[in-house]
Amino acid sequence: MRYIPTFCLREGMVLAKSLRGNDGLLLLQQGLPLKQSYISLLKCNGFQGVYIHDRLSEEIKIKTIIDDELRNSAAKAVKNLYVQSLSSGISPSMADDVKANVHNIVDEIIENRNIIVNMIDLKSYDNYTYYHSVNVGVLSIVIGVALGMNYTDLYKLGLGALLHDIGKVFVDKDIIDKPGSLTAEEYEEVKKHPLLGYEYITDANLNLPISGLISILQHHERIDGSGYPGKLTHKEINKFSLIVSIADVFDAMTSDRTYRPGMMPSEVMEYLMGGAGTLFDQELVYLFTRKVAAFPLGTCVLLSNGLTAIVIDNYEDCCLRPKVKIVNNDANPTYLDLKNDRSLSNLTITNVVKM
Ligand SMILES: [Fe+2]
Ligand SMILES: [Fe+2]
Repeated sequence: MRYIPTFCLREGMVLAKSLRGNDGLLLLQQGLPLKQSYISLLKCNGFQGVYIHDRLSEEIKIKTIIDDELRNSAAKAVKNLYVQSLSSGISPSMADDVKANVHNIVDEIIENRNIIVNMIDLKSYDNYTYYHSVNVGVLSIVIGVALGMNYTDLYKLGLGALLHDIGKVFVDKDIIDKPGSLTAEEYEEVKKHPLLGYEYITDANLNLPISGLISILQHHERIDGSGYPGKLTHKEINKFSLIVSIADVFDAMTSDRTYRPGMMPSEVMEYLMGGAGTLFDQELVYLFTRKVAAFPLGTCVLLSNGLTAIVIDNYEDCCLRPKVKIVNNDANPTYLDLKNDRSLSNLTITNVVKM
């Protein structure tokens, strides 16, 4: 299976992963051959890409770090909590639902600790906030596990990460969803969400571990003091928040939004590596590059010799040099191991191809 952008979809391609609409209900079932009407439906719902089965990628089996059902259940729990925060206030049972989902996510990630995460996400525009929250939770816990955190800390880390943007419900929705750049005043409004969220959740009396919720307040802080709201520097920022800030940036920048398309994971990885030691904690970025694929399985790439290839395997200790399958000659595919084959040391990936 492999991911391809919606604009490259053609009739007859077979969907390899089910898709859910804005209401969380099943939109298209995996295994379904695409018709033009389905492709239009995907475009209308703001899906920028989907997973398909095809001959080029038939040997690629993508094992997800958490099961789709758990992802959907967690997104639903986050949605209920966010929506209720604005109306009647959060009930303890809703908070319990989020807590139970965090426990399940921690359990699954510990079980799948050896998987390199392939984080191409199938979000539609309207469910962005909830799936973004779950993804930030997953990526944060992945880093926590790689760091060797104990279970209690992983749970606290995951909970804060899942709720990190809850303060956005108190910011004008038109500003949050604005399809264009923000004015200085609008940006000041957005910058209030960490404090609004932290104050709301800590006042709500939901028996949540306060120490884990600090990342709601600090996830936009940067170690050089250029972040907000506190302009804190490295030592002043809690470790949970240092982790969540990396996960947050990665998921936000790789996601398609109404006002810009998402960047490729490899591009965002470059951004994180560039900011390691100035914006983000260096050791945590290093761990992130080991555990999250810069070139997710099934990504089509252009090599420096002009050939096109598909990524079929990744290495923890060499995130920019995966194992690839050359696909220019369909009848006779060749496999290249960019990490281990020393004769290929001059060959590099120069671009990601959308096809
Ligand atoms: Fe945020
Ligand atoms: Fe966020």
